[in-house]
Amino acid sequence: MQHTHDVRKHFLDYFRQQGHAIIASSPVAPLDDPSLLFTNAGMNQFKDVFLGKSVRDYQRAATSQKCIRVGGKHNDLENVGHTARHLTFFEMLGNFSFGEYFKEKAIQFAWEVSTNIFKFNPEFLWISVFEKDDEAYQLWTKFIPESRIVRIGEKDNFWAMGDTGPCGPCSELFYDKGAQFGSATNPANDLSGERFMEFWNLVFMQYNKRADGTLEPLPKPSIDTGAGLERVMSLIQGKENVFETDVLRGIIASIEELSQIPYVAHDARAPAFCVIADHLRCLSFAIADGVQPSNVERGYVLRKVLRRAVRYGKMLGFEKPFLALLLPRLIEIMGKDYKELIIAKERIADVLTQEEEAFFRTLKRGGNILNQIIENSKEQISGSDAFKLKDTYGFPLEEVQLIAKDYDLQVDIKGFETLEREAKEKSRAAQKSTSQVAEENLYADFIAKHGQCLFVRDGSGVVTGKVLAIVSDGQFRDCLEEGQEGMVILDKSGFYAEMGGQVGDSGEITSGPNCFSVATVQSPFKGVIAHIGKQTQGRLSVHDTVEGAIDKTRRQRIANNHTATHLLHWALRQVLGEHTKQTGSVVDESRLRFDFNHPKALTEEEIRAIELMCNEKIRANIALSTYELPYEEAQKREDIMQFFGEKYGNVVRVVDINFSKELCGGTHTSHTGNIGYFRIAKESSIAAGIRRIEAVTGHEAESIAYQSDRTLQELSTLLKTPLS
Ligand code: SER
Repeated sequence: MQHTHDVRKHFLDYFRQQGHAIIASSPVAPLDDPSLLFTNAGMNQFKDVFLGKSVRDYQRAATSQKCIRVGGKHNDLENVGHTARHLTFFEMLGNFSFGEYFKEKAIQFAWEVSTNIFKFNPEFLWISVFEKDDEAYQLWTKFIPESRIVRIGEKDNFWAMGDTGPCGPCSELFYDKGAQFGSATNPANDLSGERFMEFWNLVFMQYNKRADGTLEPLPKPSIDTGAGLERVMSLIQGKENVFETDVLRGIIASIEELSQIPYVAHDARAPAFCVIADHLRCLSFAIADGVQPSNVERGYVLRKVLRRAVRYGKMLGFEKPFLALLLPRLIEIMGKDYKELIIAKERIADVLTQEEEAFFRTLKRGGNILNQIIENSKEQISGSDAFKLKDTYGFPLEEVQLIAKDYDLQVDIKGFETLEREAKEKSRAAQKSTSQVAEENLYADFIAKHGQCLFVRDGSGVVTGKVLAIVSDGQFRDCLEEGQEGMVILDKSGFYAEMGGQVGDSGEITSGPNCFSVATVQSPFKGVIAHIGKQTQGRLSVHDTVEGAIDKTRRQRIANNHTATHLLHWALRQVLGEHTKQTGSVVDESRLRFDFNHPKALTEEEIRAIELMCNEKIRANIALSTYELPYEEAQKREDIMQFFGEKYGNVVRVVDINFSKELCGGTHTSHTGNIGYFRIAKESSIAAGIRRIEAVTGHEAESIAYQSDRTLQELSTLLKTPLS
């Protein structure tokens, strides 16, 4: 039997032989694309390449991409467990052409892979094309009789990533599983999709959908294809549904062991096994890639998925957290292909367990509240009560309905739905606004015209550059007059733009007597360095040649604090253990703040031990070095700290202090000795399982020491007791 691991490999090997670069999956949470809740297709990481906003050193690529389809445009959550093919987490095999080959080759590749690599019997294959796409229709007739090619309309055969972004007509490949899976006679009339299983979608990328709904032609027609690996596996392994293929069935076996209930396809409890197996993968990969269950956005979606898993878990008799107990099997099966699972295993287990514990408590409380509601209700449970149970207590509507039935009560579904719609609208409004998207398009156009701004990292901190643009009151302007505030974009700059937790630099941009005072620097779009501040003297015009000088004293203090953050990260792992991973950080000139996962408060001894270790490394005055590596190589280096939630470029930068190596783009001090002295000012909790350390260095650290001395002196005077 061919295993998932082998099919994935054979697919990628095939495309490698056809001249495609094999690119690693991007994280399931696209941290740099807030228009997208989760990575929903292989093409996401190439969005800018399709749009012509960035170029890669390859024109053909292939991937096996981790995808999550919950929330957003593509949402399969409620189907999971109730169909043979839907999953919230799945792997998408895909090949891509960026303006190189188009329909003909894409169709030929898909046919060869389907018949030679997947080894599907061609007689069972069917094709759909977009109803107006005669060209694709003709191309397919080379491989398959016309009787098995159908034309389908826009709803199914025009693919778009989201409300905006690359899109185009598509052509899908189907496998006819036979008459026992339904009476449909072709993919166009198979409404349930159970008989004609769609396993591969070829998108002929031709347009960019703009925020106003218009379709703008892409610079070059391109190809984006996606084949659901689990669906392909169900066909290769001759299984009735995706849950019976090797990977998911392996997880189900672990659920059987834990629940002591056998999985029997089609029985009433089968959906519970499927839901748990799927949701475990979705949750584990999302957590490994840096998402935490919470009340907002991605975190909220994750919370919903976890709660659904728990509800189904209850059907199998689980009354306390169980997901972390299934995690070892998932890691055993998928860890060798996705190392992030191994690296984050403790964190995943902790997050799952804490979140489940909280939900079990909630269910108990919700159950009690429902009992009170039932007692007080005459004929029906009001929409607002049902909504409160769901929204506040996570108590599902279906359960409210089931229980209400036992008491001969109706549920006001209409009222419930109105409230739910309102809540959804509110959360949509919290997502990226259309104006933000429009603003991004503006910057993208800007980069297309001028190229990226160059960050001059090293040197004196004084860089001569040219003013490319001035923005004031939300408009591009030709100049800035004395007293006006605005944003200045230069072709070259030594100013560091706020990123990775490090604040932006400040300083001055001058041309002769004219001076723009830079309060901070941001990067509103990749490749744009925006100096924000005020024209304090004279005027500044586009095309001026200027001298940008950063505030070097402030930069040095920021750099000291950034290096101290790396020391702290290293010391935390020595003192508390390898599970300690950064979840957030802020570095400015007066302090550093570091969030990390750890289940409990730090003891006084632990805090002192961490301080001692950092100060020892400071006194050793170790020289730092920085260098670049191809990301693929860095990924293989276990000695380099890296965060799987981050999206890195093809080349990454390593900050190396011998004992500590981290991928980091920030600015650092040259020798640890420059930090002077390190003190932890505060340790606290910011969320379940997440601690925060606030620390200071140099002068600020000295001030803390003097402050405690003063307090001691005052106490000694007050108590009339000598200090020693
Ligand atoms: N983007 C297309 C899809 O998701 C093909 O990969 O179906």
